Amino acid sequence: MTDHNASPSPPTAAAIRIRAFGLDDYAQAYALWLRTPEVGLSSADRPDAIARFLERNPGLSFAAWRGPRLAGTILCGHDGRRGLIHHLAVDAAERRRGLGRALLERSLDALYNRGIEKCHLLVFSANASGQAFWAAAGAARRTELALYSLPTASGAAASLERSSP
Ligand SMILES: CC(C)(COP(=O)(O)OP(=O)(O)OC[C@H]1O[C@@H](n2cnc3c(N)ncnc32)[C@H](O)[C@@H]1OP(=O)(O)O)[C@@H](O)C(=O)NCCC(=O)NCCS
Repeated sequence: MTDHNASPSPPTAAAIRIRAFGLDDYAQAYALWLRTPEVGLSSADRPDAIARFLERNPGLSFAAWRGPRLAGTILCGHDGRRGLIHHLAVDAAERRRGLGRALLERSLDALYNRGIEKCHLLVFSANASGQAFWAAAGAARRTELALYSLPTASGAAASLERSSP
């Protein structure tokens, strides 16, 4: 389905390529997250934190490129029991063409191949289109749960830059 509000890529544009997210993707990824207000950002998104996340969770996060331009990202990790998805973001010009679903499927397949049977994700309550995406993907909204967050040291919460899980 086409989003007529998005500027379509020219027909000659390079094909989308999805590959494992690496630190080389960081600069364009951070720029994409910054221009995507639905993505929460914090000190946990600094390069050293993302490097540590990728090192602990190899092969679970992906970046989609159209030629030299980053089209989308998904970060995914697990704790040995459950997966957790962050920063699923598709560039506004690339939306409603199945890329979000394709990125999600890569991470879900990678989790499944590691024996992880379920993953969670956090989405802001005001993000109606994000919630529509997750509903269409078959995700169950957990109305019986409330999310709490706790800093590990007093003052740590002050480092938050844009409300982030
Ligand atoms: C949510 C997001 C990642 C979806 O990416 P996408 O590539 O456009 O998604 P897809 O094309 O794979 O959409 C799959 C299905 O999800 C649903 N969907 C996606 N975007 C939707 C929207 N804006 N409104 C309603 N349903 C939507 C549709 O059912 C769609 O299938 P269809 O196009 O055949 O109707 C993208 O809109 C985005 O980056 N949003 C900002 C960041 C965000 O909200 N991330 C998710 C929350 S963590």
